[in-house]
Amino acid sequence: MSDSLQSIRGMNDILPSQTPRWQAVEASARRIFEAYGYDEIRMPLLENTALFSRAIGEVTDIVEKEMYTFLDRNGDSLTLRPEGTAGCVRAGLSHGLLHNQTPRLWYSGAMFRHERPQKGRYRQFHQIGAEAFGMEGPDIDAEIILLSARLLKSLGIGAVRLQLNSLGTQAARMAYREVLADYFRQSASALDEDSLRRLDSNPLRILDSKHPAVQDLIATAPALPDHLDAESREHFARLCELLTVAGIEFVLNPRLVRGLDYYSRTVFEWTTDRLGAQDAVCSGGRYDGLVEMLGGKPTPAVGWALGLERIVALMEDAGVAAPDVTPHAYLVAAGDEAGRQSMRLAERLRDRLPGLRLLVNCGGGSFKSQMKRADKSGASVALILGDQECSDETIALKALREDVAQETVKQDSVVDALLARFGETLL
Ligand code: HAM
Repeated sequence: MSDSLQSIRGMNDILPSQTPRWQAVEASARRIFEAYGYDEIRMPLLENTALFSRAIGEVTDIVEKEMYTFLDRNGDSLTLRPEGTAGCVRAGLSHGLLHNQTPRLWYSGAMFRHERPQKGRYRQFHQIGAEAFGMEGPDIDAEIILLSARLLKSLGIGAVRLQLNSLGTQAARMAYREVLADYFRQSASALDEDSLRRLDSNPLRILDSKHPAVQDLIATAPALPDHLDAESREHFARLCELLTVAGIEFVLNPRLVRGLDYYSRTVFEWTTDRLGAQDAVCSGGRYDGLVEMLGGKPTPAVGWALGLERIVALMEDAGVAAPDVTPHAYLVAAGDEAGRQSMRLAERLRDRLPGLRLLVNCGGGSFKSQMKRADKSGASVALILGDQECSDETIALKALREDVAQETVKQDSVVDALLARFGETLL
């Protein structure tokens, strides 16, 4: 294949052998969101570039070097969404969903970041996210974290732990920034290039540095929890209490700052040690200032997003079985008359048994080649319709994976025969 027809680096096809697991995550998420009263919202993949640079912050990795930004035919600067929160707030504001209301929303879909691809890190990846607006207290922080915990548990994912921190109010954070910048300035010679650049623009991000010399400095840096304002301290203590009462284990991580600028107060991450360097599977926090910053009335908000690729990888790692989507039955139609009747019979079966996974032979072929296809399809039984069966109004059932005798039943009773074999899941 010529290079221009290859897929783009970091953008993956999700193949039929993989999609059942993806669907299982999506189905679980949908069910749990419904149970907690969260409504789905769907935002466009493209937004004005300014939305993301303002919401996420000019001096963040995402905005500085990871956005897919281009001029469209009108000369407007557009960006493929690198995350969902900014678009969700924009949509909420455009449609008056946020003012004096307390919407709980969720979304899922592709996000785009021009990062260096590696295991668990892609340029097109997929998130499921939740955002709750208009509620200030720690109870909604607890609820949205409990929801994420339930989702992870429902998927059979155990190898994760919840890390929690509070960044305080914007004002407390600004004051802490100064303290931190002063501290790092004293050892500026040990800082790497990225950290030096951030010294003035965003010193909190230095806490995320993986550079060994910087890590030594980080270990003894002033800790954020010592610089929290009293209200944020109380908010955080209450959240920890609510989670403890609900039986959710967590670890306090005073170095957790997150890579997007809109956070204030609670931040959290579910992390794992099973996926190498890309250890965050679900992350989020409170962003009380964002709605106002994007032109709305002051509106507290909290949310998270999980990375579907990482969740699916964790399910594979944990040996969680993929949902079985192999067909129950394969309809073999040998002969002219059988070919004519097979579709009608299949449709009758589908009317009565909506859960039946039935493949109908298409494209003709001898009896032998159709039976080969039936076998290859993974179906448990072949339903065989030949000229004889057509004139007798019968059909033969042949088990393909067990050594049991073929049986012939009246077409009227094939529904019962299938129910007897596969049970009520067919209904
Ligand atoms: P984020 O931490 O940038 O937060 O991304 C959330 C999750 O998306 C991560 O925990 C990770 O699982 C996944 N993820 C991020 N980048 C990649 C990538 N390049 N490849 C694969 N997976 C990735 C946000 O996006 C915030 N909008 C979350 C939020 C919602 N905060 C409040 N509300």
